[in-house]
Amino acid sequence: MFSQQTTIGINGKIIIPGDKSISHRSIIIPSISNGVCEISNILKSDDVLKTINAFKEMGVDINEENTKIIINGKGLNSLKKPKKELYLGNSGTSARLLTGLLATQNFDSILTGDNSLSSRPMKRITNPLTEMGAEIQTKDGKLPLIIKGKTLKNSKIEINIPSAQIKSGLILAALNTEGKSYINEKNITRNHTEIMLDAFGAEIETKKIGNSSEIIINGKKKLTPKNIDVPSDLSSSAFFIVAALINKNSNVTLQNININPTRDGLLIALKKMGANIKITNQNIRGGEIIADINVKSSELNGCELDKEMAKLMIDEFPILSVAASQANSPSYFKGLDELRVKESDRLELINYNLNNCGCYSEINNNDLYINPSHNKEIVNPEIKTDFDHRIAMSFAVLGSKIGKLHINESDSISTSFPTFKERFNNAGGNLI
Ligand code: S3P
Repeated sequence: MFSQQTTIGINGKIIIPGDKSISHRSIIIPSISNGVCEISNILKSDDVLKTINAFKEMGVDINEENTKIIINGKGLNSLKKPKKELYLGNSGTSARLLTGLLATQNFDSILTGDNSLSSRPMKRITNPLTEMGAEIQTKDGKLPLIIKGKTLKNSKIEINIPSAQIKSGLILAALNTEGKSYINEKNITRNHTEIMLDAFGAEIETKKIGNSSEIIINGKKKLTPKNIDVPSDLSSSAFFIVAALINKNSNVTLQNININPTRDGLLIALKKMGANIKITNQNIRGGEIIADINVKSSELNGCELDKEMAKLMIDEFPILSVAASQANSPSYFKGLDELRVKESDRLELINYNLNNCGCYSEINNNDLYINPSHNKEIVNPEIKTDFDHRIAMSFAVLGSKIGKLHINESDSISTSFPTFKERFNNAGGNLI
């Protein structure tokens, strides 16, 4: 647990660790490429370490040299049967992506995880894989998964749930399947897998049709090794961005942040709320857009966001809700269904904790309404996190504005941002 006291301002140049989504992919894709890849600025958080361990268990040569990770990939079918179950901790990304990859290997495998991961839905990935001929047993649609490795058939698959993890699991299955597979995605979701595979020379093409896209993969082609410099994570930056906005006398700069347009909804929403945010030094690295972000204290207004926006910022609602709770007018965020199946039921925890902090909010179906004009004193300073890293960091940020809060199970922060406390305090936070 840690406690938070008010700050007199959040300031300075903050070093934000590598992007979590891109870090997972920076282990998975090099491991099945044909040659040596050097990875810089990888995020060394619990989730990514689970992916690294899984590939080591499958015989991949992964070594650390100074600050870099060196991976010696031996091809699409080079993975070895692990001696034991692959334990993926809290990591949904590892679970969904590995399920697709392992469904096409020539060995059987078992995936397990912690209590949170074991309560999350897996049929969303096993059902479409079954359409390709995969054989995967679940426990009532959840982990553990028992995956039979086999040859799949190239197929046309439609994905209606907005999820980059489902899409990426299917792409990895299609990559090791003879012929052309077509994945029809009905929503916009982060496209890091497609970008990285393209850089590795995969035969992958995306055709956009409005908010839908068709991804065509011609499988069984060798991947050419590439070095990767992982950009810094916008989702981790979000805590500093909002902390600077809601606290007076703040001015922070975050460098080399990935602002991929399938992920930048938070910046759009905050600008709509009147945030003083400037994006500079924009450039492209490894196919991803990176930039520096400068943020100054701002008087925020509330805003209304539709369900399409939710897809472009799904991980940022806990921290956006904290910003909305300190704005001058109400906010209404629509279509937050997917928040219920994250590391915790985030919609419920945002609402519960905001109200305990004296900030008025309510849930209508899966929409969230926040009205700061009804804010009052803190009712109960104990923040319930259910071991969810993003809930813990979001309410640590709220504490920097409204005063002492006790963030329970704050160790979960190492899932995505092990150095959060130290960096936040260096910038002016008071986490103890
Ligand atoms: C991720 C996709 C998102 C996101 C998660 C990371 C990824 O999950 O919430 O933190 O790396 O592909 P969904 O695909 O379940 O929306």
